[in-house]
Amino acid sequence: MIPVLSKSSVSMRDPKRVEQILTSMRNAGPSTLQVISDFDRTLTRFAYNGKRCPTSHNILDNSKLISEDCKAKLKNLLDTYYPIEIDSTRSVEEKLPLMVEWWTKAHELLVQQKIIKDHLALVVRESEAMLRDGYQQFFDHLHQLSVPLLIFSAGIGDVLEEVIRQAGVFHPNVKVFSNYMDFDESGVLQAFKGELIHIYNKREGALLNTEHFKELQSRCNVLLLGDSLGDLNMADGVMDLQNILKIGYLNDKVDERRQSYLNSYDIILEKDETMDVPNAILRYIT
Ligand code: C5P
Repeated sequence: MIPVLSKSSVSMRDPKRVEQILTSMRNAGPSTLQVISDFDRTLTRFAYNGKRCPTSHNILDNSKLISEDCKAKLKNLLDTYYPIEIDSTRSVEEKLPLMVEWWTKAHELLVQQKIIKDHLALVVRESEAMLRDGYQQFFDHLHQLSVPLLIFSAGIGDVLEEVIRQAGVFHPNVKVFSNYMDFDESGVLQAFKGELIHIYNKREGALLNTEHFKELQSRCNVLLLGDSLGDLNMADGVMDLQNILKIGYLNDKVDERRQSYLNSYDIILEKDETMDVPNAILRYIT
């Protein structure tokens, strides 16, 4: 049906069901489609030449805007909490308070650094963040068809927007829902805005009553892209959902996590740094 689905990085629990969903989405056409995606390690690469690529948090953490002492503290948090995030033996209930603790501590440290808004663009330019291979086609294709691309990220909105902007693909159909920095009148970071978004509370239901939510109501077919089991709930709150196809990038701890990913995502992409599969699916259904 779609040749790229026979790539060695692709696994499916139920290929027949995937085929049915794709046929149904193709028949319904692009005017019924919305794409909901995670950002870090889903739209961006996990690794390049064997080296880990930074998340939107890491772009700041590793930058010259952060003191050496603070860098060490942030690294310590990462080393403590990231293994918990990807630990498949712990339940969501057990992990949730620990994830809130991680984000809260990291944001407090960042605020202490008095980061200046105007320095963010340079820090992103100098970083090693990379969108996945084939990103241009992905963003441009959705833009050409006026398909909304909703990015839900527990990362830092100001930073990830800048990554997309510098890649030249921040088209008007792209909407980002993330943690945004609050700068004072002289452009110095003083807090993070609104309610904290972490890996377990990002979902479309959070947009209820916003202007954007109304626009999405007529779009009953969802292509969902994620890299963690928390991303599976991103489409919760979509009204009159007809079809949802969930594509999961399995980047790390592949053997340990394969079965849980297969149980919950329709298509899993193991150590696949490209947008080849989402792009081929979009070409097929639109
Ligand atoms: O966009 P996404 O929801 O994937 O972004 C969250 C990711 O950022 C998490 O998977 C987590 O590993 C990472 N993170 C980080 N530093 C923090 C908090 C989260 O790198 N302080």
